[in-house]
Amino acid sequence: MKQQLDTIQVNALAAIAGAEDERSLEEVRITFLGKKGSLTTASAGMKDLPKEEKPAMGQALNEVRQAIQASLEQKRTELQAARDAASVEGLDMTLEGRDLARGGLHPLTEIKEKAVSILRRMGFALAEGPEIETEFHCFDALNTPQDHPARNEKDTFYFDSGKLLRTHTSSVQIRTMEAAKPPVRIIAPGSAYRRDEIDATHLSVFHQLEGLYVDENVTLGDLKGTLEYFLKAMFGDSTEVRFRPHFFPFTEPSFEIDVKLQAKGEEPKWIEVAGCGMVDPAVFSAVSTSRGDQVFESMTGFAFGMGLDRLAMIQWGIKDIRLLIENDVRFLSQFG
Ligand code: PHE
Repeated sequence: MKQQLDTIQVNALAAIAGAEDERSLEEVRITFLGKKGSLTTASAGMKDLPKEEKPAMGQALNEVRQAIQASLEQKRTELQAARDAASVEGLDMTLEGRDLARGGLHPLTEIKEKAVSILRRMGFALAEGPEIETEFHCFDALNTPQDHPARNEKDTFYFDSGKLLRTHTSSVQIRTMEAAKPPVRIIAPGSAYRRDEIDATHLSVFHQLEGLYVDENVTLGDLKGTLEYFLKAMFGDSTEVRFRPHFFPFTEPSFEIDVKLQAKGEEPKWIEVAGCGMVDPAVFSAVSTSRGDQVFESMTGFAFGMGLDRLAMIQWGIKDIRLLIENDVRFLSQFG
């Protein structure tokens, strides 16, 4: 039997050495070590041996098995290494990688996201409304009389249907109050359109962020505190904020808000960033008529609206608003 084992070992090692790939190596393994393999068959002869020969033969059997297994393992590693080497053959590993162009956020998107995240932390929820609006939502419900200059065909884009491109995001105030119950705390960022003469500071499309807070007993103090906090979070803690009396049909009293900012290499100066005021009772009345109930009649509130293009221009010292819609990569790649 010893003789037989030696022959198996010699044959197995020769077959392993001759295996050309992992598949034929596996076949060799089955031939010798498999359930019906020659070593397995040989070991079945153990039971016919005289008792005193069994231990020595058992040990010999183990040694042969181990030798074959070790040889199989080594060959498998060699074959794998050869396969790995073949798969990268001809590749020059010293070549530089290709540069991936990285995109970035548009400055308007960045400003909008910053403003929205501050206001959301303060409890305002996002609201939306259509850009093609009715005169009711854009003007009438906002207490804007028929002869107000903003309603002029020279200032506003009208469709034949009588609808128009919203001239401000304030129409979202009305739509929200038509659909919700107080308290209302919303912000609505979005596009607005005016028939302006196009130059470095005017386009026919621009971007606003509207805010509305409606509840019982809302005061001018709430308005000032909220907007001062917001503008400091936007422009820095030491930013000075100033409220200047102004007129809007839908708020009373109304203000424009200036912040004192210093552009690089320039003297600090006051820059107008937003309009705001206490919601005019006439707006609540229009909403009540539209809803057919009195839910908003006894309410108070404040509203504000700001130009996002202008905030972006201030933040990055952009001198021409047209750059914000031209999508020139040389301009855009400076951001993000
Ligand atoms: N809708 C005004 C504008 O476009 C801004 C504003 C909004 C003013 C809300 C007061 C309250 O100029």
